[in-house]
Amino acid sequence: MRVFVTGASGWIGSAVVSELLGAGHEVVGLARSEESATAVRSAGAAVQRGSLDDLDSLRAGAEHADGVVHLGFKHDFSDMAGAARTERAAIELFGDVLAGSDRPLLFASGVAGLTPGRVLTERDANPSSGPDAPRGGGENLALSFAERGVRSVSLRFAPTVHGQGDHGFTSVIVAAAHAAGVSGYIGDGSNRWPAVHRSDAARLVRLALEQAPAGGVVHAVAEEGIPTREIAAAIGEHLALPVESVAPDAAAERFGWIARFFGTDMPTSSALTRERFGWTPTGPTLLEDIAAGAYA
Ligand SMILES: NC(=O)c1ccc[n+]([C@@H]2O[C@H](COP(=O)([O-])OP(=O)(O)OC[C@H]3O[C@@H](n4cnc5c(N)ncnc54)[C@H](OP(=O)(O)O)[C@@H]3O)[C@@H](O)[C@H]2O)c1
Repeated sequence: MRVFVTGASGWIGSAVVSELLGAGHEVVGLARSEESATAVRSAGAAVQRGSLDDLDSLRAGAEHADGVVHLGFKHDFSDMAGAARTERAAIELFGDVLAGSDRPLLFASGVAGLTPGRVLTERDANPSSGPDAPRGGGENLALSFAERGVRSVSLRFAPTVHGQGDHGFTSVIVAAAHAAGVSGYIGDGSNRWPAVHRSDAARLVRLALEQAPAGGVVHAVAEEGIPTREIAAAIGEHLALPVESVAPDAAAERFGWIARFFGTDMPTSSALTRERFGWTPTGPTLLEDIAAGAYA
């Protein structure tokens, strides 16, 4: 399959590019800078220069592909409304280009906050739609393309897709521990975070590209839920820092924008995903990665 990948130079995208190439697919990666283009080329993929804001570049990449894996995202937490607008426009564009072709459109989503306080499954619909919803309501919009002849598939990633070199959520929590000189968790830290190793997530993206039905929801989740106090304890142990509870009303000051995620209980099952794709995660757990120095 010739696959157009946005976010091909990113944390998850670069692993997905290697996984797809390793399985014999051809990859064209979107790159917005010469640096990103060089990274994509060195991985062995072709490059489509452009950006998420340049819909013509997305169209050019998608039109000539057998499928799209959309992993690019503007992680500017000071302008989430702008990121959501860009995401929705990109999803709409891909829907228009792929309509009536039955070609796959896999797109990144997340599990954070969908059903806080109980185990989220693949059968749970995203409660939010519309342009003002998180990520521009892109998940429900893209899944609706199944009715227009697009094999759209949601990739719901755990909030921490971890591993050596990760610059995502866990690294932000580690940075907060460094800054405070103490590793914190919020309240009693019993709220749970799911996790997946990057290599397992990349393999699952390939399996979903090859096999998932239209309108499918895939959970890239290896560990259903790790109490956040255990995550804080592992960070404290590795950095030789004390571990403490942070009161919920002081969490924003200690953790910044990530407080609202780190304080959320979001256990997530991947039982249906494992069964459908024969996917068995084999990578290290989050606590093993922290202990091994992945966030040192
Ligand atoms: N990592 C996680 O733990 C996690 C968890 C849940 C959901 N997700 C979602 O999964 C997807 C991939 O995440 P990630 O961790 O791989 O993100 P990442 O490492 O931050 O990579 C983002 C990618 O998007 C590209 N990008 C950003 N702005 C762009 C723009 N304006 N035009 C073109 N490309 C642009 C980046 O290109 P450059 O290399 O040029 O910057 C990079 O390739 C995202 O949608 C993310 O929200 C990730």
